[in-house]
Amino acid sequence: MPQDKKGVGRTSRRSFLGRALTATGTAIAAPSLLNQASKAKETTQMAEGEIKITLNVNQEQRSLAIEPRVTLLDALRDRLGLVGSKKGCDHGQCGACTVLIDGQRVYSCLTLAVMQEGKQITTVEGLAKGDALHPVQTAFIENDGFQCGYCTPGQICASVALIEEVKRGSSSVVTPDLARPPQLSELSEAEIKERLSGNLCRCSAYNGIVAAVQQVAGQKPPSPVADIMLREEISG
Ligand code: FES
Ligand code: FES
Repeated sequence: MPQDKKGVGRTSRRSFLGRALTATGTAIAAPSLLNQASKAKETTQMAEGEIKITLNVNQEQRSLAIEPRVTLLDALRDRLGLVGSKKGCDHGQCGACTVLIDGQRVYSCLTLAVMQEGKQITTVEGLAKGDALHPVQTAFIENDGFQCGYCTPGQICASVALIEEVKRGSSSVVTPDLARPPQLSELSEAEIKERLSGNLCRCSAYNGIVAAVQQVAGQKPPSPVADIMLREEISG
């Protein structure tokens, strides 16, 4: 383990963050433990005003009894125990609650759970395949695409959708030529920033987030970690 000037052992920021995220299970950890916990909370017992619905979440059928006014975000977090999706503003302004519905990114705080029957809902817990992280999750770790991690589940889901949108040939307001949408290999920084502008990061980890998307797009992003090391070396 590296030692600092006082001889105290220190750990690299990246390995510390990796361990922290695994421990808290917020954004990147494999979903098995969260799923076990969530099943314990699932219920189909009806209270007054509730209706029974079945949601397909992360490729599992989940039955629950809820009032029709319950948002998808509250159903996921409070009823199914899938707390990876975060409640930031609860008003469609921050993107922390972003999930995928039939492959499209959606603010889960702005849609009702009862409207999602028959659709495929994917939360951050459903992106990994067993212990193998989704490439976007790996890229966020390798490029320091987060600091506190609160916005990260939403950023990751939005980035997964972004990649698929580009593959389908979608353009954005900063696409120079609408008749020629960008390919992944030529997706500019401005395009990535615009396409992720619905997801705010209070820690301002935007450089790492953009680099993570560039990595998944097959580009060679500047590594923020290498950049910091270089600056530390120069300053002595
Ligand atoms: S919590 Fe849904 S957009 Fe902020
Ligand atoms: S990493 Fe802290 S809010 Fe984005």
